[in-house]
Amino acid sequence: MRVVIKNGSADGSIWAAHYIAEKIKAKAAKTSEPFVIGLCTGSTPIQTYAELARMVKAGELSFKNVISFNMDEYVGLPENHPESYHSFMHKYLFDLIDEPAENIHILNGNAPDLAAECAAYEQAIRNAGGIDLFLGGIGEDGHIAFNEPFSSLSSRTRVVTLTEDTRIVNSRFFGGDMNLVPKQALSVGVATVTDSEEVVILAFGPKKARALAAAIEGPASHYCTVSALQLHPAGTIVCDEAAVGEIKLNSYKYFKAVEEAEQNC
Ligand code: PGA
Repeated sequence: MRVVIKNGSADGSIWAAHYIAEKIKAKAAKTSEPFVIGLCTGSTPIQTYAELARMVKAGELSFKNVISFNMDEYVGLPENHPESYHSFMHKYLFDLIDEPAENIHILNGNAPDLAAECAAYEQAIRNAGGIDLFLGGIGEDGHIAFNEPFSSLSSRTRVVTLTEDTRIVNSRFFGGDMNLVPKQALSVGVATVTDSEEVVILAFGPKKARALAAAIEGPASHYCTVSALQLHPAGTIVCDEAAVGEIKLNSYKYFKAVEEAEQNC
């Protein structure tokens, strides 16, 4: 696991955006096959999306040959609700870049048959050739996508029930009322994420420190589902100083030294 520790969320986000942009360009230089990206929502990726959008606007990057799959969506929330992940993605990314509309995939939390919707989503990912890079965040309880503690590490896209903790955390987007936060969501599974060629996780701020320490130093366990990254051959966590406040000093020094050595190569 690579852990890139930046001073704050602004430079971490810019680092991540440039890392993703380089991956898109590197694939485009090798093949005409599309780059398939997994995308997340939440406060964390907003600055990364802003930098990607800036690059597209400046002509430095294009999403014309990118296919995207979002991680999750609430069940029963209208697609045009301001807090749906459909609305979020259009506001912060899709309306600002040149990704063709037909390349955008977001789970439909209002599908008449939710199980069929989830199965079709897994199939669509397979049809696209699998995901090259999955960008994710991390929940305060260590979730990756909406894979709450005790989700199977081999889980696939399915209907999930949100924990009270997650609904309280997300109530900040619903006027502070957790009763307005949907109780269920559709979410890619842990294995859907770890099947990707590469996984990049963003974690900023002190609220993520406990989960991040568990993900990095704890066992790979369903108790903290993002810890599944430990079993992935190409997992990177991009974080800021505040988010690594709970890891051991020696772990911190190790990751800093590795990054310094990388820069000098
Ligand atoms: P956040 O959510 O970016 O809003 O903190 C992350 C997550 O729950 O995965």
